Amino acid sequence: MTRGKFITIEGQDGAGKTTNIDVMKRYMQAANISFVQSREPGGTPLGESVRELILNSGDERIGNKAELLLMFAARAQHILEVIEPALERGDWVLCDRFTDATYAYQGGGRGMTVSDISELEQYVQGDLRPDLTILLDLPVEIGESRAGQRSAPDRFEQQKLNFKQQVRDHYLARAAAEPKRIKIIDASQSIEAVKASINDAMKEYIGNV
Ligand code: TMP
Repeated sequence: MTRGKFITIEGQDGAGKTTNIDVMKRYMQAANISFVQSREPGGTPLGESVRELILNSGDERIGNKAELLLMFAARAQHILEVIEPALERGDWVLCDRFTDATYAYQGGGRGMTVSDISELEQYVQGDLRPDLTILLDLPVEIGESRAGQRSAPDRFEQQKLNFKQQVRDHYLARAAAEPKRIKIIDASQSIEAVKASINDAMKEYIGNV
């Protein structure tokens, strides 16, 4: 049995992940790839509870260390229950965010060190890394105005412009360091142009598997 592939989509809040994960999903369906779709934080009952705790913690201030550990706790359960079993049985996994988000948000936004994050990454994931990551990139002001048109902002959407700029910069730095895995898509283009760019990236990746 050939092991499945692990594909993720990333980007700042307001970059259009929800619309574009559907584009990826449709591409995989058309290519007859059997896959499971999931998200982080979340993807398991424990992970969804952690998501609720982190994103809507009310008045309690969650410290940076607790936030980082909660992300990885949810991830550990997600890998155990969903990601590894799927990949082992040959299914692909399409995941809305993964550890690149931790480097961008907890690293870039909150200022946690790369060495702390990479130690946890190694501990929780072992060798597991995404095979392909689609990064939706756009100027933070555009992302902010798009995210602002949706429902009540969560703890990350409430952050200031500087936090969001750090998130974007850290995503871009990761993409620059791993250009084979992380494909940057210009999300400020029209919806149709973004869709076409995503389909091109999927075609290129799947054509070379
Ligand atoms: P979203 O799924 O609607 O994008 O919301 C998830 C939020 O959680 C988003 O603002 C990014 C944040 N997040 C982190 O801060 N670190 C992480 O490791 C992950 C997976 C998400």
